[in-house]
Amino acid sequence: MAFKSIFAIVALAAVAFAAPGHNGRVSCGHGRKASNAVCCKWFDVLDDIQTNLFDGGECGEEVHESLRLTFHDAIGFSLSAQRQGKFGGGGADGSIMAFSEIETNFHANGGIDEIVEAQRPFALKHQVSFGDFIQFAGAVGVSNCAGGPRLQFLAGRSNFSLPAPDLTVPEPSDPTDKIFARMGDAGFSPNEVVDLLISHSVAAQDHVDPTIPGTPFDSTPGSFDAQFFVETLLKGTLFPGNGSNVGEVQSPLQGEFRLQSDFEIARDPRSACEWQSFITNHSLMVAKFEAVMAKLAVLGQNPRALVDCSEVIPAPSTSKAQVAKLPAGKTLKDIEHSCRATPFPVISADPGPATTVAPVPSS
Ligand code: HEM
Ligand SMILES: *[C@@H]1O[C@H](CO)[C@@H](O)[C@H](O)[C@H]1NC(C)=O
Ligand SMILES: *[C@@H]1O[C@H](CO)[C@@H](O)[C@H](O)[C@H]1NC(C)=O
Ligand SMILES: *[C@@H]1O[C@H](CO)[C@@H](O)[C@H](O)[C@H]1NC(C)=O
Repeated sequence: MAFKSIFAIVALAAVAFAAPGHNGRVSCGHGRKASNAVCCKWFDVLDDIQTNLFDGGECGEEVHESLRLTFHDAIGFSLSAQRQGKFGGGGADGSIMAFSEIETNFHANGGIDEIVEAQRPFALKHQVSFGDFIQFAGAVGVSNCAGGPRLQFLAGRSNFSLPAPDLTVPEPSDPTDKIFARMGDAGFSPNEVVDLLISHSVAAQDHVDPTIPGTPFDSTPGSFDAQFFVETLLKGTLFPGNGSNVGEVQSPLQGEFRLQSDFEIARDPRSACEWQSFITNHSLMVAKFEAVMAKLAVLGQNPRALVDCSEVIPAPSTSKAQVAKLPAGKTLKDIEHSCRATPFPVISADPGPATTVAPVPSS
């Protein structure tokens, strides 16, 4: 009790020290300002992870893995369990890091231990909760991708969590009905599942076919663009690695990987039109991702108890034109058009010899 009140006084003093100026903003040093003093420390975290985790602000492997981790932590959450008074996971609570020895052994979390262990020292060093850190790293990371979103970041998740149960994370071999049911149980509609899968625009696989680590899901894994939505609709013609694996289907390009789940969700009548809608509208794609990630990042949390520190997230570069194209060597005839309501948009093909895709380098 006594200790607690001393702590409260110290906390109050810290806030008073960084009291808002006349414009309602506090100075965090280095010319940086925040609307709330608790946001200041996140600027230090930002500098540290951009330099020491993301190789100086790249959209590479650690960014991709950090974005994946936001999902694998948060989706440990179940509305039906809650209704039955059972524990179905605490959502975006950092449990995947706190109980990594349990959660990273779940089959659907294959390979996630690497980024959990890479991130952990940063969270400990800056004394922020694991739940906050995971969502922050994902938001900062994806802002490094050309044409990327500027995700909301709310700070203040408790560092207390319990291990999530197994089987909350969808598998690429799961039928669409099962994926939509699991995601629905966390509060996401089929269209919102598509919105979440915008993340696969900056993504590669290591473990579905372990013989070809770093094989991307589209031809531009460093760009937050709609190539993923075009290329997943092309007729599959080849396996990029050692034949067919569980959760893999044929891809259209040498060096490109296609998950069975992406293939099916792209063609399912419940989701095909949302999938196609991003091909000609990059700002729509960014807006939908920002909205759905704001929802993902607070699963299991009370957002009113958190502080909005979004100002710390860098504004991504928008300089590059984000116009989706057919890969060289493909025509509109290779598209498996799947949205009944809307014709497939007329897009042009890149010139030159057939596109092949290079792996994402591991660092
Ligand atoms: C709907 C169900 C989903 C399934 C079945 C699925 C499945 C997968 C699989 C199998 C991989 C490859 C992992 C590996 O072998 O290393 C992967 C990678 C990835 N996923 Fe998903 N995913 C889903 C949803 C999501 C969501 C919602 C996000 C984020 C919001 C996400 C972000 C990523 C990212 C960024 C990667 C690339 C990781 C890297 O390059 O290291 N995925 N996903
Ligand atoms: C969060 O919890 C972990 C144990 O799960 C602990 O090691 C870490 O120091 C805690 N961080 C904070 C900021 O309390
Ligand atoms: C490739 O797959 C075959 C079976 O299809 C297997 O015998 C072989 O060991 C695999 N190669 C590698 C490098 O994993
Ligand atoms: C693209 O999406 C935005 C919403 O972000 C919308 O306002 C705009 O009208 C759309 N543009 C086209 C050409 O459909």
